[in-house]
Amino acid sequence: MIHQPKYMMSISTLLHVLFCRRATEDVDIGGVTIRKGELVQIFPYITQRDGRWFENSNAFNPDRFMNDETWPKYAYFPFGAGPRICIGQSFGMMKVALTAATVLKKLSLLPTKVMLEGTPRFSFRPNEDCMVRFINR
Ligand code: HEM
Repeated sequence: MIHQPKYMMSISTLLHVLFCRRATEDVDIGGVTIRKGELVQIFPYITQRDGRWFENSNAFNPDRFMNDETWPKYAYFPFGAGPRICIGQSFGMMKVALTAATVLKKLSLLPTKVMLEGTPRFSFRPNEDCMVRFINR
């Protein structure tokens, strides 16, 4: 079974450090005042692990993406949101699905580790090599 590419977006969380917006006016968000001109950094890594919207939010559970979305619009946004949303979103999703389908048609992938620790760099990267075993189907 091929899970929706959405899940792959969630574990890789590309552009994890680059999400910034500058406030164009003073605004109060959840009791925190952000002044006009201040930079706000947005962390999809955190919002998409918010236990209010995602059950067992840290668990490896690709099945959560198999059904209709139950979370609010901006709880999960691997391609950004608003006027600067990724213009390559459809292309990116298609590429992931096609690559997975092409590889998984011939090979099964077996992980050698359950879950790797990650480090935030330009994108979110595993701390060590991500070892998988390829088995002919
Ligand atoms: C899985 C693949 C991809 C992911 C996860 C991704 C993610 C993102 C994110 C989060 C942003 C928004 C940054 C922000 O709001 O500040 C963005 C913007 C952008 N992406 Fe992607 N992207 C992907 C693939 C692509 C591809 C394939 C292209 C081009 C063919 C592309 C072109 C762009 C461009 C031009 C922007 C800037 C849009 C703007 O500022 O108006 N992306 N991407």
